[in-house]
Amino acid sequence: MSENIEIKADNYSVHIGGLKAGVLSDFIHSKYDFSDCYILVDENTKEHCLPKLRDLFTDDGAFDRMGIVEIPAGEGHKTLETVTSIERHLSTRNASRGAVLINLGGGVVCDVGGFAASIYKRGIDFINVPTTLLAQVDASIGGKVGVDLDGLKNYLGVFKNPTVVYIDPAFLTTLEQKEVIAGYAEVIKHALIADNEYLGHIREHDLDVGAQSMESWKAIIEQSVNIKNRIVTEDPKEEGVRKTLNFGHTIGHALESFYLGTDTPLLHGEAVAIGMVCELYLSSVLTGLGGEARDDVCSYLSAIYQKRKLDLSSYNEYITSMYADKKNRDGKINFTLLTAIGSPLIDQYVDEESIRQALDYYRSL
Ligand SMILES: NC(=O)c1ccc[n+]([C@@H]2O[C@H](COP(=O)([O-])OP(=O)(O)OC[C@H]3O[C@@H](n4cnc5c(N)ncnc54)[C@H](O)[C@@H]3O)[C@@H](O)[C@H]2O)c1
Ligand SMILES: [Zn+2]
Repeated sequence: MSENIEIKADNYSVHIGGLKAGVLSDFIHSKYDFSDCYILVDENTKEHCLPKLRDLFTDDGAFDRMGIVEIPAGEGHKTLETVTSIERHLSTRNASRGAVLINLGGGVVCDVGGFAASIYKRGIDFINVPTTLLAQVDASIGGKVGVDLDGLKNYLGVFKNPTVVYIDPAFLTTLEQKEVIAGYAEVIKHALIADNEYLGHIREHDLDVGAQSMESWKAIIEQSVNIKNRIVTEDPKEEGVRKTLNFGHTIGHALESFYLGTDTPLLHGEAVAIGMVCELYLSSVLTGLGGEARDDVCSYLSAIYQKRKLDLSSYNEYITSMYADKKNRDGKINFTLLTAIGSPLIDQYVDEESIRQALDYYRSL
């Protein structure tokens, strides 16, 4: 693979590329005591990613002195209970204020681990080593950490940046294809809110991890991280332009929350893909997005994402969930919409009838 890339974020760096043996031990050695380092994994990343992480240490003894903290996999465990179990683990091991937590996993591990680290003894450092496409292009950067509350997405959390982020596309080789496709929704979102030309480029990208070289994954990840980083650096606390990253998420989060408690949960990215179709529709009706552009992007999304049957009888519950969205003001449901591909418009308040029509539009495709 070509040279690794270093992207400067707010007060930390994001390294992208094939990680070399020793890269992590060198970084940790310069700042921390190995016996005060902890690695957070879930059951899948323990099996598939921990052996590779070990390769990033030159000295096996140092790796073995680090504590492994394991949590169950999946959005259903992005909860305060899981945070408590991590805190308990750290305190039982007597982790100090100078400790560091390495989050090795997808968006759930990064979000939960970052939050647990940010409150343990009023805050310890954490390092993100994201292992899903979604976490590599989105969740591992930007400093939003937190958990869901009774299924309400990301209701509890803080802004706290990681100390450093190491992104190696090679982790993707063990990821299930449906997870890769789900993560790609955030890549598409980045293109839709920021760059029409990039959209053309990513449409040519083959989503089969095996068929596509690590080099081309690296290029996709770099571009997405650059887009997100540019936005969050400008507006770290989401007072303005950062809201553009919520495109597809007002409806997406509501669907993700609704289906989380059912036998047919939606992955975060799958929910966002449906949300983007609905919000492209709203953009065409309310903010001037051309009908041709809308249909073109929606048919691209429909070709990638399996159709999900949405029930008319559940619309009220979806909408109730949208009223709980953190972006809302004065009881009105807040959207980020597009005026054109690559041109987002924040703080668009949309009435219930239009939201129902957007859901109808998705069902009609
Ligand atoms: N903080 C942010 O800015 C931000 C941004 C976007 C999304 N998110 C959050 O991210 C979460 C979704 O993240 P996700 O899609 O990565 O889900 P996830 O963390 O649940 O990971 C998906 C699945 O893949 C498994 N897995 C992870 N890496 C693997 C690998 N290399 N090989 C095999 N299996 C592997 C996991 O165990 C899990 O079962 C949501 O909670 C979402 O809200 C946060
Ligand atoms: Zn998202």
